[in-house]
Amino acid sequence: QRPPALADIAEKTGWQDKFHVLAVGRSAQDDEEYRAWAREGLALAGLSPEAISAWCDTSVHYVSNAEEAGGWQAVADKVAAIESANDLPGNRALYLAIPPRVFPPVIEALAEVGLNRSPGFTRLVIEKPFGKSLETARSLNELVHARFEEHQVYRIDHYLGKETVQNLLVFRFANALFENSWNRSLVRSVEITVGEHLGLETRAGYYDQAGAFRDMIQNHVTQVLTLVAMEPPVKLDADSIRDEKVKVLRSVVPIAANDVVFGQYVGGVIDGETVPGYLEEPGVAENSATETAVSLRLFIDNWRWQGVPFYLRTGKRFPERLTQIVVRFREPPVCLFEVDGTCEVHSDAIVITLQPNEGFELLFDVKAPEEDMRLQTVPLDFRYDAAFGSLPDAYETLIEDIVLGDQTLFVRSDEVEAAWSLYQPILDDPPMPERYAAGTWGPPGSTRLPHASGDTWWQG
Ligand code: BG6
Repeated sequence: QRPPALADIAEKTGWQDKFHVLAVGRSAQDDEEYRAWAREGLALAGLSPEAISAWCDTSVHYVSNAEEAGGWQAVADKVAAIESANDLPGNRALYLAIPPRVFPPVIEALAEVGLNRSPGFTRLVIEKPFGKSLETARSLNELVHARFEEHQVYRIDHYLGKETVQNLLVFRFANALFENSWNRSLVRSVEITVGEHLGLETRAGYYDQAGAFRDMIQNHVTQVLTLVAMEPPVKLDADSIRDEKVKVLRSVVPIAANDVVFGQYVGGVIDGETVPGYLEEPGVAENSATETAVSLRLFIDNWRWQGVPFYLRTGKRFPERLTQIVVRFREPPVCLFEVDGTCEVHSDAIVITLQPNEGFELLFDVKAPEEDMRLQTVPLDFRYDAAFGSLPDAYETLIEDIVLGDQTLFVRSDEVEAAWSLYQPILDDPPMPERYAAGTWGPPGSTRLPHASGDTWWQG
């Protein structure tokens, strides 16, 4: 098990004594009670007693009941007191990992008590979901911009912190071999699957309102899509990269209603264990029509991708946890290798596994030895763990970037709105979810999406 991101960063960078955490929560407790809780958690995560005390004895603090009258002023006073006692320059990250409905009052309150500026830097970190529709995302952006500058704002999508997701830029733009094939002349289709083994866990309160479309497609899956499809940025800075990502979103053709399939899992068996259906999960509304899986087919109307289908798919209670991009290449125009009247050629593919077993496979045909002209598809394989050992946690990367002031891996305001605009028509008129058994790759009806372009899902 990896240590929690903050503790790991503190240890790795030696920032321990310069890095204080002030937690703000509703439960009434003081610094010492909160530290005891933090110590327990860090011990469970395997941190050594020395590391725990270096971290917890002095650098962790707590304020309760900020929502009460004068509560936010108490937060501001405590920040000032910690900074002055420890001779800190006032560099602050305000990290909102709170229920989305309280984003607006908390952002207002932080500004009211002057926490939107400081002697050093002030950065506002906002966890997902950023809005639940185009309209709500727009008004949240307006509110944020009334109180903070965009350069202070870090909208989190933790997929962007994953090493393998970031590597998409390197894979594409450092290797002319792949980039030159990465277009409509050679690519037949692109599939992005983000499958989850897990069910609802204990998150019915949030999830039954959100559903898979808002929880995964609008953000994580779409972020992967933009990195797969974007043009090379002019430079590797945050805005150049984000400009190209936004252009992808603006080039997507309105998605046909028939190209979207929603699913909801019913009970089934995963790894030999019988698991309940979505409607039996605690906290889910009776007869809930919330989707736990989404599949869709879309097209990007630009010079690079015109006519190439992109299949996106996500779901809970799939047979395994798997995030994978499959780029299928066109077959040669003429088939030279036929056996008994059947063409033996398969289309080449690049399979990029973002998690788990992170790596790449280039699949191509070879002649199977000693058979007449039978072809067999074989992989050229690269695995991260074999080359580099374990990968850093996404949150570690993101928190370090927040401290360093690098916004590349964070979603810009126009980007979040472009993603909502693209999907709003589907949210306005969502399809009824089809049932799928837990332990399968989503609703059977979703197979029609790749079929419509002559493909099948890579898995399932
Ligand atoms: C979160 C979603 O953002 O991402 C969860 O809210 C989902 O529903 C999770 O399980 C998946 O993240 P990962 O990193 O495990 O693929």
